[in-house]
Amino acid sequence: MLKFKNPERVATLETPFWYYDMDLFRSTVDAVVAAASKYDIKVHYSIKANTEKRLVEVIKDRGIGIDCVSGNEVRWSIVNGVEPSGIVFAGVGKSDAEILYAMKVGIGSFNCESLEELEILEAIAAKEGLRANVSLRINPEVDAKTHKFITTGLEMDKFGIPKRFMGKAVEMLKNSPHLDFKGLHFHIGSQITDVENVFTNECRSAKGIIDYFEEQGLKVSTIDLGGGLGIDYHNPDSHAIPEFDLWFKTLRDNLPLRPGQELHVEPGRSIVGQCVSLISRVILVKEGEKKNFVILDTGMNDLLRPALYGAYHKIENLDGAGRELRLYDIAGPICESADVLAEDRVLPETRRGDLIAIRSAGAYGSVMSSGYNMRTPAYAVFSD
Ligand code: LLP
Repeated sequence: MLKFKNPERVATLETPFWYYDMDLFRSTVDAVVAAASKYDIKVHYSIKANTEKRLVEVIKDRGIGIDCVSGNEVRWSIVNGVEPSGIVFAGVGKSDAEILYAMKVGIGSFNCESLEELEILEAIAAKEGLRANVSLRINPEVDAKTHKFITTGLEMDKFGIPKRFMGKAVEMLKNSPHLDFKGLHFHIGSQITDVENVFTNECRSAKGIIDYFEEQGLKVSTIDLGGGLGIDYHNPDSHAIPEFDLWFKTLRDNLPLRPGQELHVEPGRSIVGQCVSLISRVILVKEGEKKNFVILDTGMNDLLRPALYGAYHKIENLDGAGRELRLYDIAGPICESADVLAEDRVLPETRRGDLIAIRSAGAYGSVMSSGYNMRTPAYAVFSD
């Protein structure tokens, strides 16, 4: 059950809000930094998971770089003090303006996702008299065994350069006077829980691709294996800090590096997911024909994941101690049938005004929210 650091104060706040457990966040960052140093891995935080300024500041201060997927994410990182050289920029559709901005500030590397983009990068750099570091994101054709909406490394997915174009990419890079080839990038998907098997497969596929580029005479200095480490949505308290050690060990054990090669990763969810809960109050409990509905003052407008992916989030009634258990669907106020946060959940008998915690909402929560139905968005509250 979620415990607030200062419960009396929190009880007076208007809902809904995102409650940031900053102690847990700092411990999670400590854990990823310790594991990364043990296995000699460079971390770029995937800022798309959560762009909150206070988090970015802690991450930057610990020497973690940033993985971006838009010009505005690059800009936001820089505004918050991140060194441009510590930024990598992926994405299948980078606009000319985004590319130009990132080139001018001198980001660490563009993670280029197509031959078409490679051509655009060279053309913009040539026109502006700039140089850019480029890594190639190759589609490794590895199944992440996760939800199909968050699988990215299969032949059918839009991400990365298809393997059959690798030869062409080598040729283009050799003829791109304004681009400096840095290395290779892979990302197979998100919320990966079968850590050892899936990441071993990723390493195997990556190894063959790295060998190919080196045989073609391109030096692969950085190998970025992306993000994807899953979190335990069912047990946020007993499994609050994800298994960074197991992930990094799996990568190290299965991907032998040549001298001068660096291993990089880009975790998002695993760094921020468990540190935030969405706090809401029950507007009313509605008796339906077949079901009983707890209607909250938050819904898919704040947390889209259940509606979009059928994602599971643990839901707790913080005022329900000692009451009998009942079965409910937990829904939001939005005018959409998909606005259900959980179906058939057992909760203590729930009443109007009860405080509800929706757990593990730190990753892809606030960043995916919308202003639908003109609802006032949830705001951030920090435990400290
Ligand atoms: N690197 C790249 C290139 C990515 O596309 C992503 C996530 C990451 C790193 C970070 O992956 P993570 O460590 O967070 O798994 N909205 C979905 C997740 C989308 C993930 C997008 N890419 C969700 O709510 O589950």
